[in-house]
Amino acid sequence: MKSSFNDTFLRACRKEPTPYVPVWYMRQAGRYQPEYRKIREKYSFFEMNYIPEVCAEVTKLPVDQLGVDAAILFADIVTPLKPIGVDVEIRSGIGPVIDNPIRNTADVRRLGELDPVSDIPFITDAVKILANELRVPLIGFAGAPFTLASYMIEGGPSKNYYKTKAMMFTAPETWALLMEKLADMTITYLRAQIAAGAKAVQVFDSWVGAVSEADYREFIFPTMHRIFSSLKDTGVPLIYFGVGTGHLLRSFNELPVDVLGLDWRVTITQARTEYGVDKALQGNLEPALLLAPWETLEKKAKQVLDEGTEQPGYIFNLGHGIFPQCSVETMQKLTALVHSYSRKNGEM
Ligand code: CP3
Repeated sequence: MKSSFNDTFLRACRKEPTPYVPVWYMRQAGRYQPEYRKIREKYSFFEMNYIPEVCAEVTKLPVDQLGVDAAILFADIVTPLKPIGVDVEIRSGIGPVIDNPIRNTADVRRLGELDPVSDIPFITDAVKILANELRVPLIGFAGAPFTLASYMIEGGPSKNYYKTKAMMFTAPETWALLMEKLADMTITYLRAQIAAGAKAVQVFDSWVGAVSEADYREFIFPTMHRIFSSLKDTGVPLIYFGVGTGHLLRSFNELPVDVLGLDWRVTITQARTEYGVDKALQGNLEPALLLAPWETLEKKAKQVLDEGTEQPGYIFNLGHGIFPQCSVETMQKLTALVHSYSRKNGEM
């Protein structure tokens, strides 16, 4: 590792003491940045994703601009679905849209297997460039099977996930096969990113908060357990994140992961005391506060930091992604605040 390498984020993932609280933001590369918008004028989302030099450049934008302690690979959770036969496009302001949704067992059986060498060389090439150039760890990522399945079955974003849940409840064998195939893909995809140089991986189960704890345990937990167990031997920190998942935290805490990402609906103290989470924690500032007056944002960010720093193993982040209306200046100020406030507290 290079001598100037900043490994604060990796140390926090492993619950080791750090001189200050490391910070990165979900969706830290995106339309809130004028530089991103400029590159985006020239390329579609997938074109940016497919050209390793462009992908690496966009990944690095927030690292240089905000001074965050980790980079996250510029891609999307649906990126590895295209090579296995899912006809997905990304529509600005909407998200992933799929023209050939999964309806039955035959559709699930038709899904291919991911071959990293022939299917995603653009990802592994981008990771190699980044691993060589970055002075902070690169986080690789993947979507979790439930969240990917929700797009594949609904055909796009959804409010109630009725079609997804209907498959889960009425065709449990089809559901199990879909979970199995997506889990295999996720494991292959993350292993390829780690082999190419990703120093940690985050699995985004953004929409899994829509299910009850009993259904999570029956229909999803075994799949997540298998994914994380089979990645353990890579030695890199494993992070799991979902939105609105307070009721699932006890189950999440039983998974072989290093870090749990929280949204803003539960406090860090609640996660630790009420739900008994003993993993490192990442989060969880309400993203809408990025539009509030600075004094309000500062006060709330300090509250989050006070709770987070009660125990080692804490990484500052938002409770969900940055959105286009945010300002670069606010993100810079917030990042500086996280660093200076946590450093000061550490010395006291
Ligand atoms: O900087 C980063 O965080 C890395 C890149 C990243 C993107 N998507 C790029 C992107 C990551 C980690 C994701 C994950 C992702 N994608 C998730 C999980 C995280 C979460 O937010 O819950 C989900 C659910 C998706 C699906 C998806 N893709 C959505 C909801 C959207 C946004 C639609 C919109 O226009 O608001 C996308 C498109 C997308 N993915 C963009 C980016 C930068 C916007 C593309 C553009 O129009 O320029």
